[in-house]
Amino acid sequence: VPYVAIVLAAGQGKRMKAGKNKQFIELDGKPLIIHTLSRFLDDEWCTNIRLVIQPFDLEEIEALLRTYQIRERIELVHGGEERQHSSYLGLKSLQAESDQVVMIHDGARPFVRQKYLHELAKKAKDTGAALLAVRVTDTIKQRNNQQLQTLNRETLWAAQTPQAFTYNKIMEAHERAKDEEFLGTDDISLLERMSHPIDIVEGSIENMKLTTPDDILRAKWLLQEWREEE
Ligand code: CTP
Ligand code: MG
Repeated sequence: VPYVAIVLAAGQGKRMKAGKNKQFIELDGKPLIIHTLSRFLDDEWCTNIRLVIQPFDLEEIEALLRTYQIRERIELVHGGEERQHSSYLGLKSLQAESDQVVMIHDGARPFVRQKYLHELAKKAKDTGAALLAVRVTDTIKQRNNQQLQTLNRETLWAAQTPQAFTYNKIMEAHERAKDEEFLGTDDISLLERMSHPIDIVEGSIENMKLTTPDDILRAKWLLQEWREEE
């Protein structure tokens, strides 16, 4: 199942406190964003990659892509203020067929395995929407004023990316969200609002998002594990 990938790297990485966009943090001598792009460059089902970035990161990104000799395999798109704006801009940059499978992925998640990319692409083709998620291990409480409630863990999932869709479905969801001024923290939430059926592909916690400084240690350890697998 061929698919197009939109990789989001237009954040600022404020919580990482690295003094620059976290996408440039080096892991094992290679910038985070290069690790993430490699997951898609190495997958033969991926026909096209759009990398969404901020204009102020453009020069540094261009230089990196040239250093790793992947500049001509990646198209750059300017992102927006919020993540949702960046994914919408990435989508709008595609002139895709309505049933084209599109995957939206966080640049800050370098550990997604090919088997999951393929499962997502197949599910998205069938259902129109699918996401990678893991079961929640903590007991989650919901607080309303002083009232606490314990949510049924059996029903809870922690959402990851990639999230995969057919092009018409995700475009429609974004256009509606925009009209209704809804801002979500992921793309699938825009389809949830339309009561669209969504497949969950159960993934792995190794597909972590690098968010805070302590995530770097774990990422370095995981990279070492991956190297030993090879
Ligand atoms: N992202 C984006 N455009 C934005 C905001 C976020 O493309 N306006 C991307 C980030 O680059 C990241 C992914 O969305 O790869 C997930 O977002 P997050 O982990 O929140 O990254 P940042 O927004 O960069 O970090 P922070 O929220 O700590 O500033
Ligand atoms: Mg953010």
